[in-house]
Amino acid sequence: EKGGFASFMDKEIHDQPKAVADTLLGRTDLKGRLALDDLRIDEAVLRSIDKIIVVACGTAAYSGHVAKYAIEHWCRIPVEVELAHEFRYRDPVVNEKTLVVAVTQSGETMDTLMAVRHAREQGAKVISIVNTHGSTIPRESDAVLYTHAGPEIAVASTKAFLAQITAAYLLGLYLAQLRGNKFPDEIDEILDELRAMPAKIQEVLDRGARVREIARWMADTSSVLFLGRHVGFPVALEGALKLKELAYIHAEGFAAGELKHGPIALIEPGQPVFVIVPSPRGRDSLHAKVISNIQEIRARGARTLVIAEDGDEAVVPYADEVFWVPQAPTLLAPLLTVVPLQLFACELSTARGLDVDQPRNLAKSVTVE
Ligand code: F6R
Repeated sequence: EKGGFASFMDKEIHDQPKAVADTLLGRTDLKGRLALDDLRIDEAVLRSIDKIIVVACGTAAYSGHVAKYAIEHWCRIPVEVELAHEFRYRDPVVNEKTLVVAVTQSGETMDTLMAVRHAREQGAKVISIVNTHGSTIPRESDAVLYTHAGPEIAVASTKAFLAQITAAYLLGLYLAQLRGNKFPDEIDEILDELRAMPAKIQEVLDRGARVREIARWMADTSSVLFLGRHVGFPVALEGALKLKELAYIHAEGFAAGELKHGPIALIEPGQPVFVIVPSPRGRDSLHAKVISNIQEIRARGARTLVIAEDGDEAVVPYADEVFWVPQAPTLLAPLLTVVPLQLFACELSTARGLDVDQPRNLAKSVTVE
């Protein structure tokens, strides 16, 4: 049941600290080694893979984008992310040395299932990251890593998304451990940061009142843009998708670096733009680039709604509104920065009198191609 929340989506957004904590639970042994017991693929095979392809659709595919940044950084294995329906029909280069990672909440998405079958026919091993036990995709995979988000009822995905990102981090760290890309103490350090994330997600939820208030004020907005770089890019895409689905508002997510290659032409006075700012404690140049993107759009009249890390005073002069999130390592930040965007879409949908849990034209699981 909704547990006192106005909608399942609202409840599921608030379930996210637990979804992440439960997905981490029991996956390290006493020595802090990652033990992904449900991975039945031979370790020698996992050591020999030379490419990973993540296949998924919609929100699940955005978790794959985040996975790409983390896994490439930690494991030095090339990672491609591909929409399952595109993968299936373009004759992809896949062989025994390819690891395909299928990400799906329902475990029943037909496009993703077809991609899994196609990959296995070409000799690739498939690991699926799945939320629903007993579903089809894990049965047809070589191995499965379950996300423990619990049942997701609202059509739009929220807690499954955070759990998918978490599972992908675990997979990346496991591969790094197995292939010797990282020292055990480096892996431990990242795991400690990961274990600290549920409390930080809770903190973002506790600060949610302001973004909800802004959403109510913006109920009549006709277009919202979202900008991010690095792992902030898939967060921007997800923020836009949530708004389209739930509030039926035209919304686009862009890589901030693309601005001057086209999208900046959309900026006119009053245009609301969310900008996801990377940690200033991470790579300097990345942070500075996003600050200058905010300046560029502000100079053209955009209304800037900025998501930034606590203490990042550099954003203040260029922000019409700042939504602060606790400090976290750059690669883990999507678990925090997407939360205000979920709250925004949920509240704006409600303010427009729409059914947040059952948006028009959408089904929870898409079992046709
Ligand atoms: C968006 C959303 C969809 C799903 C997509 C994949 O809120 O829910 O984009 O993420 O249809 O579904 P699963 O994860 O069940 O394969």
